[in-house]
Amino acid sequence: RMWEAAATAANVATLRERGVNVLEPGEGQLASRGERGPGRLPEPEAVLTAIEAAVGATADLADRRVLVTAGGTREPIDPVRFIGNRSSGRMGVALAEAAARRGAAVTLIAANVALPAPAAVERIDVTSAAELEAATAREFAAADVLLMAAAVADFRPADPSAAKFAREGEATPTVELEATADVLAGLAGRRRDGQVLVGFAAEHGGDYVARARDKLERKGVDAIVVNDVSDPSIGFESTENEVTVVTAAEDSRLPRGSKRELADAILDRVVALHR
Ligand code: CTP
Repeated sequence: RMWEAAATAANVATLRERGVNVLEPGEGQLASRGERGPGRLPEPEAVLTAIEAAVGATADLADRRVLVTAGGTREPIDPVRFIGNRSSGRMGVALAEAAARRGAAVTLIAANVALPAPAAVERIDVTSAAELEAATAREFAAADVLLMAAAVADFRPADPSAAKFAREGEATPTVELEATADVLAGLAGRRRDGQVLVGFAAEHGGDYVARARDKLERKGVDAIVVNDVSDPSIGFESTENEVTVVTAAEDSRLPRGSKRELADAILDRVVALHR
């Protein structure tokens, strides 16, 4: 209530006009019993991000617009069921956060991401592949860098049922699938000079780097960041990851690390490609 009071709002606005960097409070449970809402000390990560941005720790993406997609799409089967995937959105959120820390103006298109968006990132929530496609289509032209970390469905139910499938008195339903659009390949087809496009691939074992190189060419992008999801210690819900960045020039395997460390290592490559 204090944060939302008119007097506080006016005073905070005055401070901001004078150039003071005021962080938005965190949202959630408050110290006063039973109260929830905006008013918490921002999370340490958000405070750190803001400090690093303020002191320009590494501002090599200053004045750049970075568009990140994260999470996994959901395709409705009926009003309550969907076909989804195991992507948590952690890698995409870490990339958005790292890009903001490096001075970029970041838009995060989040497909069913349960994590909070980093401070200073514009977040657009979407559910299905079609919604993600529409949102990226709107944002892409203004972007200098696209980081396509979302796991986008390749197939969706062709004709989702308007009524919920019921067990009683009905035959076992069959769900027919149709292909979705390849969002990344579509955007690559209408890129303008200077835009850097990066795809992400989760491959299951075998010669996964070769499959990533094939995707690089097929989708017409500048880099594919690939990880091997047959290794249970990395990827999906885990906080650590190990990836190889495949570009036209080389394959470079990045050392295993937290998604935050990897995000910075990936952005180092992106900055080099952008030059
Ligand atoms: N992608 C996309 N639209 C889709 C599917 C994937 O834009 N309908 C993007 C993903 O966001 C990712 C990249 O393409 O950045 C690679 O995703 P992946 O699923 O590995 O590619 P597919 O073309 O679906 O390859 P596969 O044949 O292995 O399923």
